[in-house]
Amino acid sequence: MSELFSPYRLRGLELRNRVVVAPMCQYSAVDGVPDDWHLVHLGSFARGGAALVLTEATAVTPEGRISPGDTGLWNDAQQAAWARIVDFVHAQGALAGIQLAHAGRKASSRVPFDGRGAVPDAEGGWEPVAPSAVTFGRLRDPREMTAAEVAALPGQFVAAARRAVAAGFDVLEIHAAHGYLLHQFLSPLANHRTDAYGGPFDHRARLTLEVVRAVRAALPEVPLLVRLSATDWAEGGWDIDDTVRLSALLKEAGADLVDTSSGGTTERPSIPVAPGYQVPFARRIRAEAGIATGAVGLITEPADAERVVADGDADLVLLGRELLRDPHWPLRAAHALGVPATDPGAPWPKQYA
Ligand code: FNR
Repeated sequence: MSELFSPYRLRGLELRNRVVVAPMCQYSAVDGVPDDWHLVHLGSFARGGAALVLTEATAVTPEGRISPGDTGLWNDAQQAAWARIVDFVHAQGALAGIQLAHAGRKASSRVPFDGRGAVPDAEGGWEPVAPSAVTFGRLRDPREMTAAEVAALPGQFVAAARRAVAAGFDVLEIHAAHGYLLHQFLSPLANHRTDAYGGPFDHRARLTLEVVRAVRAALPEVPLLVRLSATDWAEGGWDIDDTVRLSALLKEAGADLVDTSSGGTTERPSIPVAPGYQVPFARRIRAEAGIATGAVGLITEPADAERVVADGDADLVLLGRELLRDPHWPLRAAHALGVPATDPGAPWPKQYA
């Protein structure tokens, strides 16, 4: 009996198994609109047996895009394009989730396969906004957000969340990790504000909690995940104790699960990368904050993924690069774990069965 291929209840929804597609930017949208690339990319994971397909970081405002190629969800054209993709994911028996994001000081970056650094004005670059005017690497100098801009942010997440639900998405994930805007507010290394959003832990955590409370109030039934970086891997930065504390508050605010990643605040942190290296963070958050967790990061072997769930380290396992290598990984893993081909947790498409 496989735990990885047992169903999981997320609020009112049932996931057919515990395998989730990690959000992965494709830098291939025009004006924030996903296209056939995104349909085939995301659709292949739904066909391949994942229970929940999460989209890439999708910006809630144009200036919140990491690059000009990011997807967005602030207008009708984007919403309609997402709806087509969601329909295909549903037709394969998977659930669809969208990661809603704002890049903050990392905005206006070049599409990675077009070079590095900032997009020049002449090529459509824009001025990033951030908690403080603290530049990241060779990117553009950000402007400190005004109090009014900070106050507007929860509403911008809510507007995108409403559009996501209207497009058919089943699950929302708030991106508060990897050194993007919400994580910039959390981390003392990026947040030097002296108002109610900077300084002590409660101040730095305020905006993330406001975003989650606002989305929860607007959409009381929708399963809501929050991606956190459990640590900055940097002296004086955000750490796992902060993450456990925030996770308990996120639960109170209405979040259902913490998707546990790490890093992103500094350019070249020293990270002890190894298979499953972030799993212990997910385990600690689950045990100490009493909220469900997702584990992610260098999980590639079916037996390892199985162990994460069976040992109670996490409720869900997210895979990124291994699913790029093989979108049918869930079906292959189910076979390796002895799950019968007829099991509803890992159904082959009828065309292939
Ligand atoms: C990512 N990752 C990522 N994370 C996130 O929260 N939002 C995103 O949009 C992206 N984009 C992205 C693009 C690509 C091409 C990769 C490979 C990764 C990180 C990803 O979700 C995951 O956390 C890491 O890749 C670690 O998991 P794996 O790949 O070791 O299974």
